[in-house]
Amino acid sequence: MQSTLDDIIAEVKPLIGQGKVADYIPALAEVPANRLGIAVCTVDGKVFKAGDADELFSIQSISKVLSLTLAINRVGDELWERVGKEPSGLSFNSLVQLEYEKGIPRNPFINAGALVVSDVLQSRLSAPKHRMLELVRGLADDPAVISDKRVARSEYQHSDRNAAIAYLMKSFGNFSNRVEDVLRSYFSYCALKMSCVDLAKTFIYLANQGRPLGWNKPLITPKQTKQINALLVTCGLYDEAGDFAYRVGIPGKSGVGGGIIGVVPGELTVCVWSPELNKSGNSLAGTAALELFTSRLGRSIF
Ligand code: DON
Repeated sequence: MQSTLDDIIAEVKPLIGQGKVADYIPALAEVPANRLGIAVCTVDGKVFKAGDADELFSIQSISKVLSLTLAINRVGDELWERVGKEPSGLSFNSLVQLEYEKGIPRNPFINAGALVVSDVLQSRLSAPKHRMLELVRGLADDPAVISDKRVARSEYQHSDRNAAIAYLMKSFGNFSNRVEDVLRSYFSYCALKMSCVDLAKTFIYLANQGRPLGWNKPLITPKQTKQINALLVTCGLYDEAGDFAYRVGIPGKSGVGGGIIGVVPGELTVCVWSPELNKSGNSLAGTAALELFTSRLGRSIF
């Protein structure tokens, strides 16, 4: 495994320069473009890593998997009355479908869906931001995980589109709380700062029937784990989910910070990070690294 990861980093490095670091949130644009890391965590807790796997980055939309997990944990199937389970075929922050589909977002991984999920958490948890931090620290087994207040503030200052999405859903009766409060929570989840190693450890419950590393009770049931992994396959990479399934072949979730997590059910989680994005907003070198990873190891769910 270690030599595979080292080889992948060496082979993918030349792709740096071909993508573009996200700049629609000023604090994200400051990240050095030339970073590349990969980490693997196995269901029995072994960690392998290469490149910049210990460097912290903004997990952004990868947090949508954590908020969905928390919401499913709290409200179960009721959640699906307010958000769908189908790919959107549109960019992550698109508004158009919402008008046609009466304020019900296509899935929990586009911004509209994640905002509904955050609205649910706002209603159900007394301190949602704190609860999310507590969950992530427990999953990563790292009490030092924080949400970067500067990034969250920068996002809030550029939140017109997300606010528009939330108000449109409110007009259809699919949003209960004050939009500003939910946006603050949503941005705080997006601004979590973690490394590839942290994230590979955090998401091992998705490879292990809902059981996190070192916990004596499951976080979610095996059935819920299957459901989240299915949604990751169909919706985790936005309008590039098909291409990602074709090239990489495992459930995955990307973020505009350049991170992507992948799940090989029953065996391991993998996290890659490279800040330059392709046209769909997914890490360019990261996707290439995952394609090499699953091809070299002969892993795919298909
Ligand atoms: O809502 C936003 O604009 C961001 N904070 C999250 C975006 C994100 O990571 C989408 N993914 N690729």
